[in-house]
Amino acid sequence: MEYCKLGRTGLTVSRLCLGTMTFGFQSDEETAGRIMQRAADAGVTFFDTADVYPLGADLSIVGRTEEIVGAWLKGRRNNFVLATKAVGKMGPSSWDEGASRKHLLDAIDASLHRLGTDYVDLYQLHSDDRETPLDETLEALDIIVRSGRARYIGVSNFLAYRLARALGRSDALRLARFVSVQPRYNLLFRQIERELLPLAQEEGLGVIPYNPLAGGLLTGKHKNDGAPPQGRFSLGAAGQMYQDRYWHEREFSTVAAFQQATQEANVAPVTAAVAWVLANPAVTSAIIGASRPEQLDASLAAADIRLDPAFKAKLDDLSHEYRFGDALR
Ligand SMILES: NC(=O)c1ccc[n+]([C@@H]2O[C@H](COP(=O)([O-])OP(=O)(O)OC[C@H]3O[C@@H](n4cnc5c(N)ncnc54)[C@H](OP(=O)(O)O)[C@@H]3O)[C@@H](O)[C@H]2O)c1
Repeated sequence: MEYCKLGRTGLTVSRLCLGTMTFGFQSDEETAGRIMQRAADAGVTFFDTADVYPLGADLSIVGRTEEIVGAWLKGRRNNFVLATKAVGKMGPSSWDEGASRKHLLDAIDASLHRLGTDYVDLYQLHSDDRETPLDETLEALDIIVRSGRARYIGVSNFLAYRLARALGRSDALRLARFVSVQPRYNLLFRQIERELLPLAQEEGLGVIPYNPLAGGLLTGKHKNDGAPPQGRFSLGAAGQMYQDRYWHEREFSTVAAFQQATQEANVAPVTAAVAWVLANPAVTSAIIGASRPEQLDASLAAADIRLDPAFKAKLDDLSHEYRFGDALR
């Protein structure tokens, strides 16, 4: 495993981060424990979770993932850099979601309670709440940092112009500044290369992309010949969202070209897809995910290889069209 600094901070993170959103729904607690152990054994010291996880859950089990992660971290919390997120819907009231001062101050305490820790290393806005004034959100996050409940703050799923504005406001108001972005990024979704990644590089932000396998489509295990099998693409509303993103003829034909290229280069598709994300110089750490421990091995292997430049160029070429498109799809 390699390690590097998260953006311009002094915080060292592993170049692969373990995502946890399958824990507590797709994967039971015992399986989740084996996934975390496998990642830790490979040198992963960076875990990402969120208050709304597990993926596919309804309100009755939101928070379950944080509880599972917290239980596993008991006695070894200091060996890991722990990131979580807020903004998603956590309860029935209209103030149980979003980036208001009221919700964020409730949400951090609830996350810390579930995680069984006094602090998280990175506290992220899961998405952009445009109904709350940016200054209110930044002030709430500043309180969270100054009270020691989070060491650093970051954002996820922000458009570049909104993040640029937020950085400007935190500088003007002398408030804690976002140090990282967590965008979706993979061979089938490259729009962030145009504005977000250049902004992150100019501003010295850490970049920790999620979804490096496009939810598993880039493994090549899915066929476009009927309903998706049990797994990511069949998880109720969440599964439908992933189908809307990737389950299309165009994406399947790119995956076929990708499979062919990986075969010729003699690199496992999963390893190649994650290594391709890591090969972007703006990327700090790729967030990998699994529903079973054995799935992790091919993703973990990405930390140990460098893509041959000609192979990398081929992958860039065959996915070039995904640099463009609807930024919010
Ligand atoms: N900020 C956000 O909005 C956001 C959004 C999504 C994710 N995330 C974070 O990023 C993490 C990773 O995202 P992701 O899970 O979408 O990543 P991903 O790498 O695109 O997809 C992982 C999924 O692919 C399948 N898979 C993985 N390795 C495989 C293998 N070797 N063979 C066959 N199938 C394999 C598994 O799904 P199946 O077993 O179901 O097929 C697994 O759960 C999450 O856990 C979460 O922490 C953040």
